[in-house]
Amino acid sequence: MKSLPIGILGSGKGSNCRAILERIQSGDLAAETRLVISDVLDAPILDMAREFGVANAYLPPGRFRTRLEPVIEEQLVKMLRDAGVELVVLAGFMRVLHKPMLRAFPRRIINIHPSLLPKFPGLEAWKQALVAGEIVTGCTVHYVDEQIDHGQILAQKEVRISPNDTPDSLHARIQVLEHELYPAVIAEFCKRYNEASQQVWRLAR
Ligand code: GRF
Repeated sequence: MKSLPIGILGSGKGSNCRAILERIQSGDLAAETRLVISDVLDAPILDMAREFGVANAYLPPGRFRTRLEPVIEEQLVKMLRDAGVELVVLAGFMRVLHKPMLRAFPRRIINIHPSLLPKFPGLEAWKQALVAGEIVTGCTVHYVDEQIDHGQILAQKEVRISPNDTPDSLHARIQVLEHELYPAVIAEFCKRYNEASQQVWRLAR
């Protein structure tokens, strides 16, 4: 079985990254993490990559707050391409990607979000669900497009909200599910990558 080369982008603690790296390490997931990249110099996700012996890099994001400067986004494309990445996995990456990345990796960039999209895109989605009085929330893996937490949905998992839930308790339960769902979706891509010839994989977007 050939391993799917992936690149992981994150800005924070990287618990999803850990879940993916552990599944790969245990031989459960036929992927190979070529590179972990963060826009935050001291992000724990970079320490985690080092802990697992994975190549990692800090990418200074430039002068914008919610996106990368276009020239830097081009640099990101080059870094991922040079590393041979076939699937880009966003794991808590806090910047919206634009044309350079979306053109370079069409239907090859995925994200995980802590709500049942299209409900509650944006920050602290678990709090939004609590405030809205929802009974059920969850997490979603989706393709990335130019809008925030938008793009074709690939998979979801549900969590019941209990009357005693606090934002922290709910978020913790959602994260447990995220750590199951994200590797499972990546496993689907690994399967497709193995079934298709290189050429078919490139065209099948
Ligand atoms: C996750 O809750 C994910 O849904 C969202 O950002 C968070 C990242 O958490 N996109 P972690 O850094 O993987 O722990």
